[in-house]
Amino acid sequence: MHLKDRFSNLLCSLRRKLASPKILESLPDVQGMERIFENGRCLYDGYQRATPVKYGSLGEQVRRDPVYRKALAAARLPDVESMVVESRFINLFILVKFFLRNLNSQNIIEFGAFKGGSAIFMATLLAEYYPDARILSLDTFAGLPALKTGVDKPPEDFLAINLERTRATARSLGLTNLEYVQGLIEDTAAESCLRLGAIGLAHIDVVLYGPSVFAQNIAWDHMAPGGYIVQDDALEPTCPGATLAVEEMIRRRGLSMEQIWPQIVFRANMQATRAIAIAGD
Ligand SMILES: C[S@@+](CC[C@H](N)C(=O)[O-])C[C@H]1O[C@@H](n2cnc3c(N)ncnc32)[C@H](O)[C@@H]1O
Repeated sequence: MHLKDRFSNLLCSLRRKLASPKILESLPDVQGMERIFENGRCLYDGYQRATPVKYGSLGEQVRRDPVYRKALAAARLPDVESMVVESRFINLFILVKFFLRNLNSQNIIEFGAFKGGSAIFMATLLAEYYPDARILSLDTFAGLPALKTGVDKPPEDFLAINLERTRATARSLGLTNLEYVQGLIEDTAAESCLRLGAIGLAHIDVVLYGPSVFAQNIAWDHMAPGGYIVQDDALEPTCPGATLAVEEMIRRRGLSMEQIWPQIVFRANMQATRAIAIAGD
C-alpha cells in the first residue's frame, strides 16, 4: 500500500474512533421499492442492508453504535482476532439487531471459528439484544481438515489457534451464551443443531467445498422459518470450493439470494416466512 493511502486510512480510522457514540435506532427506508417476498427472499431487505453501507453513510452510523463498538473491540482482542472483514461485521450487526428479532429463534450456529473472533462478535450482540439466545461455534481448532477435492486452494494460515485462550477470552467478557465445540463439523454439527433447536442465523465460514456443502445442508434442516444463512467465503477468490458449494445449493434448492454483498445471504424455509415477515413490519 502506498504511503499516501496508508496515511489516509489512518486518518479515517482516527476520525471514526473520535466520532461520538450514537445508538443506531433504525435503518433508512428504501424509496420506490416494494417490500415483497418472492423466490424465497426479500430483495428490499437485502438492498436496505447493503446499499447504504456501500454507497451511503450507514456504515459510519453503525461504527458509532456503542454495542457495535463493544462487539468489534471484543472480536479484535489479540487471542481471538477475527479474519472477518469489517464490512461483513457491519452486515452481521444489521442482521442481528434489526432482522433477527422478526424470527421465532435468535439462536446462532457458526461453522468455522478459527480463533473465535466472529463468534465473540455475535455473542456480544446476542447478549445485548436477545439475552435468552445462544451461539455455538464449531471448528477443529486444529486447522483445516485434509483436502478431498481438487477445487480447494486454501490459504495456509489456519493453524495458530489456542482454544484455551479463546475460551478464556469469552469467559473474561462474561459471554455465557457462547460455546466453542471442537471437532470436525461433520461429527459435531448434528448434536449442536439439536441442542440449539431452531436456528435464526447460520454463519458459514469454513473455506472448503465439502465442509461448506455439509454446513449448508445441515443448517437448512434446522433453520427457523425465514432464518438467515450467511456465507462468508463464497465471494473470496481464495475459496472457489465455497463458491461452488453455494452454486450447488442454489441449483439444488432452487434458491435466490437475498443479498450478495458484503456476504451472500439466503433465507431458509421462506414459505412460512411470508406471513412472519409481513407481521414483523
Ligand atoms: C476462515 S476460518 C474462520 C474464520 C472465523 N470465523 C473468524 O472470525 O476469524 C475457517 C475455519 O474453518 C475451519 N474448518 C474448515 N473445515 C472444517 C471442518 N470440516 N470441521 C471443522 N472446522 C473446519 C478451519 O479449521 C478454520 O479455522
